[in-house]
Amino acid sequence: MWTKNKIAGAFLLTLGHVQRGCAQAVWRTRQLHRPRSSSGPPWRLLFFGSDHFAVESLKLLTTNRNSSETVVASLEVVTLSGNMPVKTFAQKNHLPCHSWPLEVVPGEFDVGVVVSFGCLIPERLINKFPYGILNVHPSLLPRWRGPAPIFHAILHGDTVTGVTIIQIHPQRFDVGPVLNQELFHIPENCTSDELEGALATKGAHLLVDTLMSLPERLVQKKKQRHSGATFAPKIHTSMSWIVWEELTCEQIDRLHRAIASRIPLRTTWMGRTIKLLDFVGKCHISLSDQRSRTVPGSVTYQKESNTLAVCCKDGWVGFKAVLLKKRLTAADFYNGYLHQVLQQKTPHVAAEAQFVSNRETAVSCQKRNLSVL
Ligand SMILES: *[C@@H]1O[C@H](CO)[C@@H](O)[C@H](O)[C@H]1NC(C)=O
Ligand SMILES: *[C@@H]1O[C@H](CO)[C@@H](O)[C@H](O)[C@H]1NC(C)=O
Ligand SMILES: *[C@@H]1O[C@H](CO)[C@@H](O)[C@H](O)[C@H]1NC(C)=O
Repeated sequence: MWTKNKIAGAFLLTLGHVQRGCAQAVWRTRQLHRPRSSSGPPWRLLFFGSDHFAVESLKLLTTNRNSSETVVASLEVVTLSGNMPVKTFAQKNHLPCHSWPLEVVPGEFDVGVVVSFGCLIPERLINKFPYGILNVHPSLLPRWRGPAPIFHAILHGDTVTGVTIIQIHPQRFDVGPVLNQELFHIPENCTSDELEGALATKGAHLLVDTLMSLPERLVQKKKQRHSGATFAPKIHTSMSWIVWEELTCEQIDRLHRAIASRIPLRTTWMGRTIKLLDFVGKCHISLSDQRSRTVPGSVTYQKESNTLAVCCKDGWVGFKAVLLKKRLTAADFYNGYLHQVLQQKTPHVAAEAQFVSNRETAVSCQKRNLSVL
């Protein structure tokens, strides 16, 4: 049973710390004739990962091999098929690389590490790792379990998030016991790409920190709380439709910072889909610029700033370009399309100088309650 192993390992490591100073020879011998499973670092690691977020952890483990206090004895990689950043990194750095799915664990390892892998690892494989498999998750679990924690932290306006190291559970994602956790204050106006970069680095360091004292961490591991658990589903195109009547400037700003680098915000105009690009935030519209009908979705062109301003629930937000077949600056869109419509004064035609919310398709996360587990 590996539970017993872990506790025995913890005692051995404590002894190891005490004896290391006066028993270098014994320490070296132990490294040369490694027992079946090591009782302290450096560890034989098998790394499961796919994307850029995972590469940060793999990179730190790779450079850590050469540090004087290394936690890595050996490092091999399992990756998904396709052009994965982790695979590219592993090949460049001559790390042995295996393809998922695995029939068996390809060798003897002490501990596994899984970072944004997206596939559940079956129990029969987990059980081959005497210290189990660790996961780096970019949120303060149990908040934002699921595949898109970073997007949802931004989308919901969280001011604090973090990284968590858990031991994985064979049947469900993100529910295992917590070994280590660190807070991160989300800077104002932070995008999900920026947050991802910051948490990837933070997660990599927390992983190495955890591996440094793994047996003690396992003895002290804590079950996740039930309260405060939320689910962060994958982001989807349906989230990018702006419902002008329901979203505030602040909410559109968050939606933009959360998803726009992957999925542009969109709306409909005269029956066509229009993508809204180069968001500039809340706009201050002077009264003389406002049309008589300023309902949510109303569009006006701000010549001085070359911006399209759109009325939402509590104000106006600006975009500097749109995609309508091709990319058009606000000026191009105004001159080529909006101008004629805005010149008309009759209420019937004026209604067409409006973006229309695609309510049927929009699955606005803001109006949906957080999915409480
Ligand atoms: C780091 O360690 C690895 C494996 O132990 C070795 O192959 C590599 O050459 C080392 N790199 C440097 C810069 O010392
Ligand atoms: C965030 O954006 C708002 C609106 O664009 C701006 O007023 C504020 O100064 C920004 N804050 C930081 C820290 O950049
Ligand atoms: C969230 O759920 C609660 C209770 O089910 C409900 O009263 C509330 O109106 C919901 N909020 C939104 C924004 O849907």
